Order: sequence, then structure tokens, then C-alpha cells
Amino acid sequence: MPDATILGIETSCDETAAAIVRSGRQILSNVVASQIATHQPYGGVVPELASREHLKAIVPVVRQAVAEAHATYESVDAIAVTQGPGLAGALLVGISFAKALAFALEKPLIAVNHLEGHIHAVLLERKQSGRTDLEFPVLALVVSGGHTHLYLASQAGNSWTYQNIGHTRDDAAGEAFDKVAKLLGYGYPGGPILDSLAPHGNPSAVSFPAAQLKHRDRNRPMQDDGNQPRFDFSYSGIKTSVLRYVESHHMVAAIEARRHALAEIHTPKHEDYLRLSDPQTLDLIASFQRSLVADLLAKTLAAAREHDIRTLFISGGVAANRELRATFETEAARDGMPVFFPSRGLSTDNAAMIAAAAYPKFLAQDFLPMDFSAEAGMKLG
Ligand code: KG4
Ligand code: ZN
Repeated sequence: MPDATILGIETSCDETAAAIVRSGRQILSNVVASQIATHQPYGGVVPELASREHLKAIVPVVRQAVAEAHATYESVDAIAVTQGPGLAGALLVGISFAKALAFALEKPLIAVNHLEGHIHAVLLERKQSGRTDLEFPVLALVVSGGHTHLYLASQAGNSWTYQNIGHTRDDAAGEAFDKVAKLLGYGYPGGPILDSLAPHGNPSAVSFPAAQLKHRDRNRPMQDDGNQPRFDFSYSGIKTSVLRYVESHHMVAAIEARRHALAEIHTPKHEDYLRLSDPQTLDLIASFQRSLVADLLAKTLAAAREHDIRTLFISGGVAANRELRATFETEAARDGMPVFFPSRGLSTDNAAMIAAAAYPKFLAQDFLPMDFSAEAGMKLG
């Protein structure tokens, strides 16, 4: 199999990232410029600001990735870029830059689906640690800001294919973290803040109803066209339950006070969030996280049993969550199923996963013409 050094570029949301990866198995550099400081005052990602920040960061980030890999632009074999899903304007910054590079350097251009990238973050790190064995069938849960998707992942030769067997009917798990953090006055980025606060609360203090599908969906047969059962998720209900709890327990004034206090701090740290959290709020956070993780686990394990899964992959931003990792590790082991995560740094958005996912496409010479464009709603499988 020929070796290939691939430069990956990722600009689908709020991270400008570039990385150089050799043959899908060795990270030579991995640079991620976060936009947290830009979006924090607004409590969430502002698409126009994201595009502007990508425009500012793309040149230095790519340069840094090339320098840290001790590479040159000429030594790279191909340029890979995220085509979608993501914010259209943000994706276009990465795609335009990748096209310009590929054109000037006369290198092939490879488009990668962001969700496939998340799955390949797991494969990349396994290969990097010398593990090439993998038992199929593989089930991959991609759990991020916009997606809670279950895929059966198969490999034929070097190529990977994916079959979606479940997805969220409304809010994704990361979106639920972000919305709950916002409504409790913590703001953006919600997932990491709640992850660090949850261990300070009692996860059994508040009981949430199991994350039910909305009433109209409940009677719908949970089957796709192939008559296979589906394993869909729904997290808008749990967010509404948190909101109701807050209102009925007279927590609104304390939340507003926290929101104002945090707005006065330039880049709040864990100690600031903790100091501004009362025990009732910490209990609510711990209970919310416990409930959401339990639902993710139950549906994923049900899908794994149905499909006689031999290996489980969990990736995407929410896979950085400590309780989620510990719970899946313990419970999947109980079912005798190995579960693999990317390291926490490669769980959230990065370009190493894009360069890694591009390698099988490089081998298949799956290159794109210069006129391809962003696909904000791009599907996988
Ligand atoms: O994959 P990702 O970096 O970007 C998307 O593709 O969306 O995922 C971002 C999502 C956000 O919703 C963020 O709050 C969540 O992942 N997230 C976490 C943690 N770190 C990031 N959620 C829970 N716990 C975390 N430690
Ligand atoms: Zn992502």
C-alpha cells in the first residue's frame, strides 16, 4: 500500500484546524484554533463571526501545521477538506483555501464528510498505537453538537461504507448540553462546562423521565425501508424538563445573577463556574448528565445487541465527556464488547481526523474536480 502524506483542513463550525497525517496512521502535526473567546459573549456560535474568524485563522493555522510536521507544501501528497455537514459559510472558507492550495501545488483534492472524520479519529489512534486488528461488525456512535447518529461501519478492501441505523429526531446530545448550559446561565461552550461541574452534584437528586420520543413519533413504526429496527434519539424533552424544573423551583433569579457575574469575567475558568454554582444547580446538572448518558448508553447497547456488534466506536465532541466515557467503558465491558474512543483532544473537532479519513479515498483515487462546493446538510451512508 503506498504511503501518503495528507494535509487536512477542517472549518465546519467553530474551530479552524489543519493537520498533517501520514497514511491514516501517524499524526505529524495537529493544529486547532478555537473560537471560544469570539462566541462566548453571545452564548453560542454566531455563523457570520465563525466565517470571519476562519478567514483570519486559516493561513496561520495551515502554515503552523506544515511547520510543525517539518514538511513543505510540495512534500504533501494530497489536500483533504471537510465538505459538510456544517455551517455553509464556515465550510466555504476551508474549501476555497484547499482548492487554492491544490490548484497552485497541482495536488489532488479530497472531500471528507465531517462525520466520517469523527469515526476515523478512532481508527487513526488505534493504528498509531500499532493496533490494526478490528472485529466486525463495528457500530459507531457519532455524538456531537449537531449529530447523535449510529452507523454500522464496514470495510471492503481499503474503502469504508456506512449504514445509518439511528439518529436524533430533534436536538442532538451536544445541543442539549449547550442549551441546558445556556438556560442555567453558564453560556458557551456548554458541554465542557457541565462536564466539569457534574461531579460536584448528586446525580440522583432530580429524576427525569426517560428521554422519550415525542408523542407523534411514538406510534410510528421504528423501521426504515429495509424493515430493520431503528434506534432513534430525542433530547429536546430533557431540555424542556430542565427548564420546567428551574421555573418551578424558583431558580430564575439565581441564574440571572450568575449570567451577569460570568459576563464580567473575561475568560471564566472552572473555579469561576463552580464558585457561582449553588448545590441545587449542581444537583440538577449532575442529574441531567446522568440521565442523558444513560439514554445514549441504552439505545446504543440495544442497537449493538440487535446487530451482533463486536466493536463499538464512540466519537464526536460529546465523546469527550468523562461520565459518558466511564459509563460506556463499564457497561460495554459487561456485554463483552470492546469500546474505543478517540483521546479527548481528538474527540472534538480537529483536522487530523479529516486527513486520516482521506487516506482510503487517496488510495482509491477518489479525487474531486475544482468546482465542488460545500454541502451544509451532507449525509453519511
Ligand atoms: O464534534 P464537535 O466538536 O463539533 C460538532 O461537530 O458539532 O462537538 C461539539 C459538541 C458541543 O455541543 C459541545 O458542547 C460538546 O460537543 N462537547 C461536550 C464536551 N466537550 C464538547 N459535551 C459534553 N461533555 C464534554 N466534555
Ligand atoms: Zn464534529
